[in-house]
Amino acid sequence: MNDIFRGTLVRLTTEDPAILASAIARWNRDTEYARLLDSDPHRMWSASKMKQYLEKDLEKDPPQEYFFQVRTLEQDCLIGFVGLFPIWAHQNAWVGIGLGEREYWGQGYGTDAMRLALRFAFMELNLHRVSLNVFEYNPRAIRSYEKAGFRIEGRLRQSLQRNGRRWDEIEMGILREEWLANNSS
Ligand SMILES: CC(C)(COP(=O)(O)OP(=O)(O)OC[C@H]1O[C@@H](n2cnc3c(N)ncnc32)[C@H](O)[C@@H]1OP(=O)(O)O)[C@@H](O)C(=O)NCCC(=O)NCCS
Repeated sequence: MNDIFRGTLVRLTTEDPAILASAIARWNRDTEYARLLDSDPHRMWSASKMKQYLEKDLEKDPPQEYFFQVRTLEQDCLIGFVGLFPIWAHQNAWVGIGLGEREYWGQGYGTDAMRLALRFAFMELNLHRVSLNVFEYNPRAIRSYEKAGFRIEGRLRQSLQRNGRRWDEIEMGILREEWLANNSS
């Protein structure tokens, strides 16, 4: 294994804050994307405000999160991010992922990026568990997470109000032993 940040479709990178900030500011203008990612009301950030935020975040030592960007192997196109937020006392981490370039949805790129994040979580950070939550109205993400090895563990019933109805928030997780069982070659 020469490069743990390289998958079959994507690689994980760390972008220059100016490049990343302008990409995130553009992605965040897509309300459907924002609503898939977050339960907060959709807010917009300017690229310069986002750059300030990212630069401040980079100064934190030790880092409180492992925030990677996702580039395609074929075209070297910056398409999204994946971030791990460890809770060291319990060897657990929350993970979040988003492909802001929506033309890449549904073609395996996100699952490949999540597999790389899990490899980093279990092989480099030596975590015991990785957790996430996802909204009921996001079946593509749920399926992608199941392909990466996550299991549904529970639901917060009717916790969201969107498009005139209530939706559940779904809790998913993967344990180290489950990941090892499928990735020990
Ligand atoms: C979630 C996300 C990272 C998944 O990555 P992706 O590259 O789109 O996912 P993949 O193509 O690897 O897998 C998607 C799977 O969902 C399936 N799918 C797509 N739309 C679906 C739907 N409406 N219902 C059920 N399954 C669906 C696809 O067929 C595929 O499964 P398959 O490989 O068995 O055919 C990406 O779609 C994304 O960033 N979306 C916008 C932001 C977001 O939702 N972030 C997650 C917040 S929790």
